[in-house]
Amino acid sequence: MDRRARVYICLAAVATMLVTAIMLSPRDSFCESLQWQERKKKLRLSRCKFPLVVHVGPHKTGTTSFQTFLWKHAQWLQKEHGIFVAANKSQKEAAYIASTISKQYGGTYNPKYANSTRMAELFQVIDSMPRNSPVILSSEEFSRWKTAEWNYFKSQSAIQKRCLSMVVTYRQVWSFQASIWNQHNKMNNQTLPKPFLITALREKNHYTDFQLKILDALELASDSVDAVSYEYLHEANCSLASFVVCNATKRLEGTEWESCKMGVDLHVPLSINPSEPPTAFDVVRLAYGLYTRQKALNSTCRRSQFTLATYHNLAVSRVAEQMPTQCGQLPDEYVDELYYNRTGILRPSGSASKICFIDEGSLKLKHWKLLSTLLPQGCQITTE
Ligand SMILES: *[C@@H]1O[C@H](CO)[C@@H](O)[C@H](O)[C@H]1NC(C)=O
Ligand SMILES: *[C@@H]1O[C@H](CO)[C@@H](O)[C@H](O)[C@H]1NC(C)=O
Ligand SMILES: *[C@@H]1O[C@H](CO)[C@@H](O)[C@H](O)[C@H]1NC(C)=O
Ligand SMILES: *[C@@H]1O[C@H](CO)[C@@H](O)[C@H](O)[C@H]1NC(C)=O
Ligand SMILES: *[C@@H]1O[C@H](CO)[C@@H](O)[C@H](O)[C@H]1NC(C)=O
Ligand SMILES: *[C@@H]1O[C@H](CO)[C@@H](O)[C@H](O)[C@H]1NC(C)=O
Ligand SMILES: *[C@@H]1O[C@H](CO)[C@@H](O)[C@H](O)[C@H]1NC(C)=O
Repeated sequence: MDRRARVYICLAAVATMLVTAIMLSPRDSFCESLQWQERKKKLRLSRCKFPLVVHVGPHKTGTTSFQTFLWKHAQWLQKEHGIFVAANKSQKEAAYIASTISKQYGGTYNPKYANSTRMAELFQVIDSMPRNSPVILSSEEFSRWKTAEWNYFKSQSAIQKRCLSMVVTYRQVWSFQASIWNQHNKMNNQTLPKPFLITALREKNHYTDFQLKILDALELASDSVDAVSYEYLHEANCSLASFVVCNATKRLEGTEWESCKMGVDLHVPLSINPSEPPTAFDVVRLAYGLYTRQKALNSTCRRSQFTLATYHNLAVSRVAEQMPTQCGQLPDEYVDELYYNRTGILRPSGSASKICFIDEGSLKLKHWKLLSTLLPQGCQITTE
């Protein structure tokens, strides 16, 4: 290589670095102002015509059903919308990138997916996808990343060649907690669950902070972040898939958006997966308590095994509906204002701050009998 060529290459490299540095410069202090939103939008429109859209979850926000849609309809997305699905061999394939990098930086990761060979293969796949087509990559494991992980990701040549656009779902704090609480009890089926509200109040700040921190990391890592409310999508009968494809990737409006949404929603059955009401959690807890008591009274019951979870449990929901309840306002922290204010996202209309529990002081024999129908044979209350 002659000397002049080397000088040109060097100049080009410096220019690229400068442009990158300008684009990645730290946010101004008026981050949350409307001006910033506008500027961000312009940047996004100019740079991100064919973005690499990274959907980061987090966990518990309908990620698996969205990933199933991507995986099953990769071909359709390409034909119909010119969108490529990176990591289309399985639903969770993108986790190979997320977990491998998390491991490198000492973060929490899923060992099943930490494999640098697979990660390198995936980067190659992304690199081979046409530059004038958007690409979607989805893994809830990305929500664990901090700035170091994102920087490493962005330093990969396959990624450097594309502009990055992120999608993150916001779930109302108490419903997030309800879902975690539920999962936790599903796995600890022999112990008496603690009352939901006590657990929830103790950990409330954790779930607000957790979601705000994800936002911090994403805003630092890219200039385009689309946040969306889990509850809003549900209320508006929109799937996460149609939001990612029609809003966050193609940025359609009006009738174009409507037909895009309809087309996507035809391929993704609206999975109505609302969080269980807190009264269902109370039913499970009360049923465990009752089970302990009934075991002492009946030898058939004593020999039985008992597990009960609220998750998708129609019997529990039916019992819950017939219990006396007491409702109250949740503390202010639960209104999720901090997040809504910061992002300006569309929010659900339902009152997030009202919550109902079983009024345990008003339980009558008929209620206990009803609860006992959830227990194994021999544990029912039969007396008058
Ligand atoms: C699916 O992934 C393969 C690489 O594993 C890629 O070549 C192909 O284009 C992808 N298909 C679609 C429809 O995105
Ligand atoms: C990592 O992935 C490669 C390529 O798919 C595979 O050959 C290898 O066995 C995997 N390594 C582990 C430890 O699973
Ligand atoms: C919970 O129940 C399932 C199925 O009944 C069982 O396989 C599992 O071991 C139980 N877990 C605990 C922690 O007892
Ligand atoms: C969503 O669907 C339900 C049931 O099909 C309907 O009652 C409701 O009006 C719809 N909401 C919107 C915003 O379209
Ligand atoms: C998606 O885009 C459409 C069309 O611009 C808009 O009406 C809708 O509110 C957007 N959805 C969300 C959740 O922002
Ligand atoms: C959100 O913004 C509204 C209107 O600007 C303001 O009244 C409210 O105090 C803000 N809430 C929080 C938690 O920042
Ligand atoms: C225990 O329950 C079984 C089944 O419901 C019943 O047949 C039996 O009579 C009960 N035993 C006692 C001591 O109540």
